[in-house]
Amino acid sequence: MTGTVPPAVRLRAEDLTLSYDQRTVATSLGVVIPDHSFTVIIGPNACGKSTLLKALARMLRPKAGQVYLDGAAITSYRSREVARRLGLLPQTSTAPGGITVGDLVARGRYPHQRLLKQWAAEDEAAVTEAMRQTGVLDLADRPVDDLSGGQRQRVWLSMVLAQQTSVLLLDEPTTYLDIAHQVEVLDLCADLHERKGHTIVAVLHDLNQACRYASHLIVMRPGGTIAAEGHPSTVMTAELVEDVFGLPCRIIDDPETGTPLMVPTARKRPVMAGDAAVAQTP
Ligand SMILES: Nc1ncnc2c1ncn2[C@@H]1O[C@H](COP(=O)(O)OP(=O)(O)OP(=O)(O)O)[C@@H](O)[C@H]1O
Ligand SMILES: [Mg+2]
Repeated sequence: MTGTVPPAVRLRAEDLTLSYDQRTVATSLGVVIPDHSFTVIIGPNACGKSTLLKALARMLRPKAGQVYLDGAAITSYRSREVARRLGLLPQTSTAPGGITVGDLVARGRYPHQRLLKQWAAEDEAAVTEAMRQTGVLDLADRPVDDLSGGQRQRVWLSMVLAQQTSVLLLDEPTTYLDIAHQVEVLDLCADLHERKGHTIVAVLHDLNQACRYASHLIVMRPGGTIAAEGHPSTVMTAELVEDVFGLPCRIIDDPETGTPLMVPTARKRPVMAGDAAVAQTP
């Protein structure tokens, strides 16, 4: 293998230039994903979060720089080997037409199959467990095309879980989910992180969920640079939110967990006709 470096952390990127044809999304971008962390990436739309995740999963080739996985340049692995170590839930995916939920989730086992032993009991068990964890077992025979957005999102997550990798990169895993299912999916990620020691990297838009769940927060700003990173309790400040998102806010303690809770400043209402009467009331 080429590009061997000391195996300090399982996943890191060094000096990346990321671009699509002529559009450069990030230059000199470096990230270190702490082992066994629940890392959450936040940042405004189009700042490059998905692009970074794709590069970390080798779905996008950097114009410069390198991603290192388990001590070696990620480009030095065969695809199947990368997929046995790391799973990616992309922000958007398209299922093959007419495929059922069970068959789609089973595709998560592809990296584990060998030429002579195509489908084993452990594959069946992994698929069933993944569907159970995401609450889609009873959808197994339904065509993916017929599902609601939230059901479909849980099916895709299920496929990644069936891959049984100890590094999971999840691009907005809570999109389309109602609030109860959002919490369920994040709790599942927290369990994988706390009980199994998995390394989770998730892109989230809800800053308060990010602060509740992240052991490590990476804040990206437009231009694909890192504005701040570290534990949410030290990183999340009103100044940072205003600076990165342009949103005035207050940060208070989450009454449930004590983690930072971001409350946007109330907008100033325009003066309405009826307000005058109220204002004149002694
Ligand atoms: N396939 C593509 N071809 C060309 N440009 C792209 C492509 N995908 C993304 N971009 C551009 O790259 C930039 C970063 O996009 P990216 O999807 O990484 O943003 P993001 O931070 O994930 O945003 P969001 O919060 O909206 O998901 C954007 O300007 C986007 O328009
Ligand atoms: Mg994105």
